[in-house]
Amino acid sequence: MIYSLLRRALFALDAEKAHGIALSSLSFLHTCGLSGLVADRLIRDPVSVMGLTFPNRVGLAAGLDKNGAHIDALAALGFGHIEVGTVTPRPQPGNPRPRLFRLPEAQAIINRMGFNNLGVDALLRNVGLAEFPKKGGILGINIGKNADTPIEKAADDYVLCLQKVYAAASYVTLNISSPNTKNLRDLQQEAALDDLLARIKAEQTVLAEQQGRYVPLALKIAPDLDDTQITAIADAVRRHRMDGVIATNTTLSRVGVEKLPHGDEAGGLSGAPEFRLSTTALGKLAHALHNEVPLIGVGGIMKGEDARAKIAAGASLIQIYTGFIYHGPKLVHEVAASVTGVRSQVTGGAGADAPD
Ligand SMILES: Cc1cc2nc3c(=O)[nH]c(=O)nc-3n(C[C@H](O)[C@H](O)[C@H](O)COP(=O)(O)O)c2cc1C
Repeated sequence: MIYSLLRRALFALDAEKAHGIALSSLSFLHTCGLSGLVADRLIRDPVSVMGLTFPNRVGLAAGLDKNGAHIDALAALGFGHIEVGTVTPRPQPGNPRPRLFRLPEAQAIINRMGFNNLGVDALLRNVGLAEFPKKGGILGINIGKNADTPIEKAADDYVLCLQKVYAAASYVTLNISSPNTKNLRDLQQEAALDDLLARIKAEQTVLAEQQGRYVPLALKIAPDLDDTQITAIADAVRRHRMDGVIATNTTLSRVGVEKLPHGDEAGGLSGAPEFRLSTTALGKLAHALHNEVPLIGVGGIMKGEDARAKIAAGASLIQIYTGFIYHGPKLVHEVAASVTGVRSQVTGGAGADAPD
């Protein structure tokens, strides 16, 4: 009820401005001890994935809290995990505004933010101030490359971010699938991916040894991949013993929004129109991985039934973003409840001791 009133006010504003106001308001309510006004209790349905125990299956997808400035307020809404970022080594402004567009008729968003963020050091300062990770909450940190780093040097940016965030993260996601950083998706191609994963896994081994803690690594992929590409990615993921795959990022497809206002804006499309494409990619990946590597399903989850479909397609965990913008905190509870007790086929990871 409160969110539907708030949403009406927010949706009257410019999308990016509304986004900032909503996050600041959430943090304000949280600081005043009033999160209960908008949040339901945390649903407990513990599940072991990538060697970590998640309190439930629903997480916040990357991109909403790019700098980790609202972790506690978001965690109070009942998410079982929070993924912050994408963060890059150095701060960068992202693309010129406007760069975020709502398509309410389709329950969708198109964005071309371009990894606007304050840089990895600022993110780490924010993470250090948050209570959630200190209390054992599961915090994913999603890393990327700066826009002005040549693509041939991309691995340097990922390695540097990994070194910096390793001690603070429950798991780390390599985002190689944003459509808004030039050539980033080329890292999904066989040779480039092989090089990147070899370097990053070697670094993970060193860090795990130095710090006495194994932090799982997930790869976040695009939905716009053909079968050959999916098979090649699955092979690389298995060969390099990646701990998980997040499927998927936003899509370049415009199916379902072609004729709508803003439907032809450049950027990545998310929300309801992405659901089918994203879930199909998830299912194909699960098949190609022979259910040996856990998957996190994201893309177009707008209701409980969508989340169940992601689990049925092979996901062990799910994440939401656009659905959260349209339906607010009640979707977290609805989705967590709808997948409670639903078991997927695979929950382990390369570093997992005892997958359930
Ligand atoms: C405004 C916006 C910004 C995003 N930024 C990022 C990002 O920085 N890193 C990332 O990995 N994904 C980012 N995403 C993609 C989401 O994490 C998610 O994969 C995608 O939106 C599909 O899920 P959804 O339909 O629930 O939104 C962003 C999505 C939106 C809408």
